Amino acid sequence: MAFCSALLNGRFCSSRLSPLISERSLATSHHAAWYKESLEHPEEFWGRLARERLRWMKPFTNVMDCSLKDGHFRWFEGGKLNMSDNCLDRIVEKDPDRLALIWEKDEPGQQEYITYQELKNLTCRVANTLKSQGVKKGDVVAIYMPVSLEAAAVMLACTRIGAVHSVVFAGFSPTALKNRILDASAETVITTDEGVRGGKTIPLKQTVDAAVSDCPCVKRVLVATRTGADVAMKDGRDYKLDELMKGESPECPPEPMDSEDPLFMLYTSGSTGKPKGILHAHAGYMLYSGLTQQYVFDYKVGDIFACVADIGWITGHSHALYGPLINGGTSVLFESLPIYPDPGRYWEMVQRLKVTQIYLAPTSLRLLLKAGDSYVKKYDRSTLRTLGCVGEPLNDEAWRWYHKVVGEERCTVVDTWWQTETGGIMIAPRPSSSDSTPKAGYPMSPFFGIDPVLLDNNGKEITGNDVSGNLCIRNPWPSIARTIYGDHEKFLNTYFTNYPGYYFTGDGAYRDKDGHYKITGRIDDVINVKGHRIGTAEIESALDHDSRVAESAVVGYPHEIFGEGIYAYVILKDGVTDNEDDIKKDLVQLVKSQIGSFAAPQFILITPGLPKTRSGKIMRRILRKISANETEELGDITTLADPSVVETILTKHDSTT
Ligand code: WTA
Repeated sequence: MAFCSALLNGRFCSSRLSPLISERSLATSHHAAWYKESLEHPEEFWGRLARERLRWMKPFTNVMDCSLKDGHFRWFEGGKLNMSDNCLDRIVEKDPDRLALIWEKDEPGQQEYITYQELKNLTCRVANTLKSQGVKKGDVVAIYMPVSLEAAAVMLACTRIGAVHSVVFAGFSPTALKNRILDASAETVITTDEGVRGGKTIPLKQTVDAAVSDCPCVKRVLVATRTGADVAMKDGRDYKLDELMKGESPECPPEPMDSEDPLFMLYTSGSTGKPKGILHAHAGYMLYSGLTQQYVFDYKVGDIFACVADIGWITGHSHALYGPLINGGTSVLFESLPIYPDPGRYWEMVQRLKVTQIYLAPTSLRLLLKAGDSYVKKYDRSTLRTLGCVGEPLNDEAWRWYHKVVGEERCTVVDTWWQTETGGIMIAPRPSSSDSTPKAGYPMSPFFGIDPVLLDNNGKEITGNDVSGNLCIRNPWPSIARTIYGDHEKFLNTYFTNYPGYYFTGDGAYRDKDGHYKITGRIDDVINVKGHRIGTAEIESALDHDSRVAESAVVGYPHEIFGEGIYAYVILKDGVTDNEDDIKKDLVQLVKSQIGSFAAPQFILITPGLPKTRSGKIMRRILRKISANETEELGDITTLADPSVVETILTKHDSTT
């Protein structure tokens, strides 16, 4: 597809760039006043921003009706608007040739450009195709596509007709995809013939075939073209998206959506084995993702923003697509890997595309740091102003390298803390401390309207500074998740029941002497591998599928590059005599096929027993210490039903690692 040939020829339409956002600009010195207003007068604050920043088809009548105690959140009720109208039409009416997206394809130098007008036309043609196929407002559409212009258009098209997209990361296995399709009863699945990453092709359509063969709810599979590979097409179910779109008009009126209508769902891991379909609503998400995009990254129209996250994660939703487009900006969609063709990829891209902000994962930074400074220094990075990261704690060394080597001490490092459930960035150095250098490893300060608190295990607020506790949020904000799809009970129990009156994040945090926040990591059974959030219970239930496995316990351990690695302790059933190495290989394969390669354990230890309390609860604390080689600090093990099991595990651990 050749988009915007004017851009390819270097005739970039910059002369016509003008800000679309009309609100008073925020000088740094005003931040404190804005923050104060956002907490003291949330109705006025959010009401004003929603009126100024979004285009409404019908004005809202009530700013907020929220109760953290009841897990009940309704924002901007009475209003009607549409995401794709805000992201596309609003800009096209003023500046159709403005550059919307740059698709940075796997091979460097092969990027494709698309203007707002072109993206709107493409989106409308996809939207009309969906309608012709019978997709209606409120239907869930599962999207299993890698980052591409079509994927962006498909997401926008869903929002245009009011369908609820559920993007499933295109690295998930057929079983994981199947579970997500079934959970949402999706009738429509949209995929790509093959993915391309790091010079290799990935058989996506084949994965979809394996997944949907067990999904009676699926009525149609639409296949976009990336490589043009000859993929199997099932008659009456599978259709080539390109062909269906041929006769479709590039005009499709945006569906007026209620503020609280569901916008999209996105599955994420929690501490149980079943992934949760986190559901976000139209208006609140739209307002908050645009606002954080602008203020956290110091984002201005004309900037080239590169969020290298996949669209299968919330970061890709909010900062590769929606946040930049709502602001009328230009966003880079990154298809490749940080080390392809070599560890200079990001910086070569920065030079070639003149990137102004980059947003990435700490695990990539640690990997690139190890490859050495020369890969960074040989490229011109003078266009960069903001260096963002998200997904896991950014360690000191990586922070300093990012700041000093990548950013030449000239750029602001914004370590942003947030979650799929929060819908937007919650704690970040900007805008609160834009005039001072953020501290290494600190997301620092809350965003407008966010009131973080630290609670002890009894739910009591820990006041003062230089303290640690369970990170909770005391007040509602517009983009908080509305429910877990099909399981509101679980939504309430997971986030609002443990500490009534607060949103419980599942993370621990430290507040330093100046009141700045540092995230210390998950306090539930969720691990963060390469910035991917995985519930240990999910991996355990995958392992338990092997008929030779009696029981398993999975924990995270500190990993130099990945942040955390996965360590699985496995008990075999009596009488299993198979070779242990073969079993381990099979188990790794099993996790790959049940969840995806990224969830495969780095270590598996086959053990005759697990440390359990007398009531039968696995003492994960002990397993974590062993995995982290902190065997001197095992603590009190006398409460175990059989303390000798620890000795057995230790001996085996020492001989394996
Ligand atoms: C972790 C990603 C430390 C945290 C947007 C959180 C972080 C989980 C940071 C959410 C950070 C995210 N520092 N830890 N800056 N950002 N996390 O849902 O444990 O994929 O709860 O959302 O990632 O992961 P999720």
